[in-house]
Amino acid sequence: MINPPLFRNVLSIQKHFVAKDTDIFITGLPKTGTTWLKSLLFTTVNRNNHPIDQSPLLTHHPQELVYNLESDVYNEAFVYPRPNNLNDLPPPRLLSTHISYTSLPESIKASRSRILYICRNPLDMILSMYYFFLEFEKKKKNYEDEDFFEDFCEGKVLCGPFFEHVLEYWKTSFERPDKVLFLKYEDLKDDPKLHLMRLAEFIGMPFSLEEEDKGIIQQIVNFCSIKNMKELDVNKKGVINKFFEKKSYFRKGEVGDWANHFSPSMLERTNKLMQEKLEGSGLSF
Ligand code: A3P
Repeated sequence: MINPPLFRNVLSIQKHFVAKDTDIFITGLPKTGTTWLKSLLFTTVNRNNHPIDQSPLLTHHPQELVYNLESDVYNEAFVYPRPNNLNDLPPPRLLSTHISYTSLPESIKASRSRILYICRNPLDMILSMYYFFLEFEKKKKNYEDEDFFEDFCEGKVLCGPFFEHVLEYWKTSFERPDKVLFLKYEDLKDDPKLHLMRLAEFIGMPFSLEEEDKGIIQQIVNFCSIKNMKELDVNKKGVINKFFEKKSYFRKGEVGDWANHFSPSMLERTNKLMQEKLEGSGLSF
């Protein structure tokens, strides 16, 4: 589901954006852990430029260091000149987008740029989205978490539908393993160090044994943890793109919080939907 303002931005990306071979993109539906992945990617790529105690993440929100194409760059609501100039970014440019694989501009698909895709259990994603948009949606039409759930079941998820979005990137990660690295939020929570090593390998910047011995990987994991990110002053105050409070990007960061909100019948309905949509794909949540 792409609302009209977002649709204009997507068209603008397709028309104007030209990918470079060195670009690295973070993709995934909103509220699947993209902010976390931004911190991890930024810190990993820049580990030789900035020691962690001088990280730009101490003074900038992750969203300000890894631009989102549709919100931060090709946002048609911006007055010109655009605030974020992609030409100013040194290689590798770290960028993000929520749009589906089908809708990506051809140059992203054709170039040697890489894509990190993150997905998450849909119930945790809907819940996270509900909290994120709570204030806006309530003002609009007394939205409840049940409404978010109904919309999800009908395929109405921002930048979704959910299953089609996930499955396209999942399929491409097998067809083009050097193009798409498919990550799950739950796996990252379970073993962040392992998946950070996979990420570093995938982008062509693997951690050396010496770095491992020095504890660099664990340091990055700890630095980017929600516990640490939430406590940074820079993430406590202020807004992004005029609307979104910086702190709203860091809520609980847990797996299975849906159980505190959704009923067994909702779970049953979701499981049925998952079975139907994911059958034969090898993907499960
Ligand atoms: P919850 O609302 O379930 O807590 P996105 O970054 O794609 O918008 O996703 C937001 C979700 O990721 C929120 O989930 C948020 O709390 C969680 N999150 C943000 N930073 C995180 C981190 N460093 N580690 C784990 N989860 C994080």
